[in-house]
Amino acid sequence: MIRVPIRPLLSSLALLAALPLTSIAADTVKVGVIAEMTGSFADFGRQMTTGAKAYIREHGDTVAGRKIELIVRDVGGPSPDVSKRLAQELVVKDNVDFLAGFGLTPNALAVAPIATEAKKPTIIMNAATSIITTKSPYLTRVSMTLPQVTAPLGDWAYRNGIRKVYTAVADYGPGYDAEAAFKKSFTALGGQITGDVRMPLTNPDYGPFVQRIKDSKPDAVFVFVPAGESAVGFMKAYAERGLAAAGIRLIATGDMTDDGVIDALGASAVGIITTHHYSAAHESPENKAFLAAYAAVDPNHRPNFMAVGGYDAMAVIYSVVRQLNGNVDPDKAMALIKGMKIASPRGPVEIEADTRDVTQNVYVREVKRVDGKLYNVEFFTTPAVKDPGKEAARQP
Ligand code: PHB
Repeated sequence: MIRVPIRPLLSSLALLAALPLTSIAADTVKVGVIAEMTGSFADFGRQMTTGAKAYIREHGDTVAGRKIELIVRDVGGPSPDVSKRLAQELVVKDNVDFLAGFGLTPNALAVAPIATEAKKPTIIMNAATSIITTKSPYLTRVSMTLPQVTAPLGDWAYRNGIRKVYTAVADYGPGYDAEAAFKKSFTALGGQITGDVRMPLTNPDYGPFVQRIKDSKPDAVFVFVPAGESAVGFMKAYAERGLAAAGIRLIATGDMTDDGVIDALGASAVGIITTHHYSAAHESPENKAFLAAYAAVDPNHRPNFMAVGGYDAMAVIYSVVRQLNGNVDPDKAMALIKGMKIASPRGPVEIEADTRDVTQNVYVREVKRVDGKLYNVEFFTTPAVKDPGKEAARQP
């Protein structure tokens, strides 16, 4: 006969009863979201988390009998150390099943070693430097890469009569990627780069850079700066220094004219050509449903590409949790993510199995007034573009 020591059993039951409900892990699937919620990049966090909440609102908060819980942590600006600490806390204290978020590249790169060590499927909602997903087998991305959205613009520019371009990019990973990709596709056709400049990521004064560009008289300036305040700042300097009047066109990735700020850019933005993966003006039933779900969570802002990143990250998580019947095993989760297809508001998306990076349409768009408001109106599509930065990963 086995004797059960009655006292320890009772005391452990008493302990269990005293625990808060949230610590009974099996009931919820926890998603730790690390996002820029304050400071000059606060729009990134607001867009990503609102997009994620829109998905939950539209699809219900329970999957395979488990409630989906977002735990949002503010990383502030580009702060790799803070990002790393938050990831550690989310893994160790909160016992999250997934990590997600990351508007800025340095914040995403910082968590790669933790994702590997803790085996946490980590879904990048925005950060777009090509190399990020190579840093851990537990990283995947549902946003874009800069080479992916930039290369088609070099083609478009040359084919539309632009011959001399000055490149101006933010001085960090995505800027270097954009600069290299533009130069490669534009010069491959015969285009000439007349100068290049890298501008500070934080607190930039664009005036002197823009003046130098004007003085060198290119046909166009190609720009990558992060969406939001930086884009508004660059556009202001471009307008104030009279580049358009001097015949120097502005061409850019869609970060420049993102839906979150496009109306604030004003009349000087009309006619600007950009390439990107998402426009709020994209016509599809999926985008209609997304816009409605987003408006139900936040009626005061227009969603941008980062909101789509948040929304699609949840689509990935819901699909994984459903297919695993609520038991999130990290390696099984990654196996399901590889090759996953999403009917995204931006168009069809596939997570490439070899790279865990996103394959998607890239659109050429023109800023136009639609019903009195500015929109990026898509007029040319390069379908199913893979990240050109990953050629080596695809070698047999
Ligand atoms: C990035 O840091 O990777 C980043 C930030 C903002 C963008 C695009 C990329 O608009």
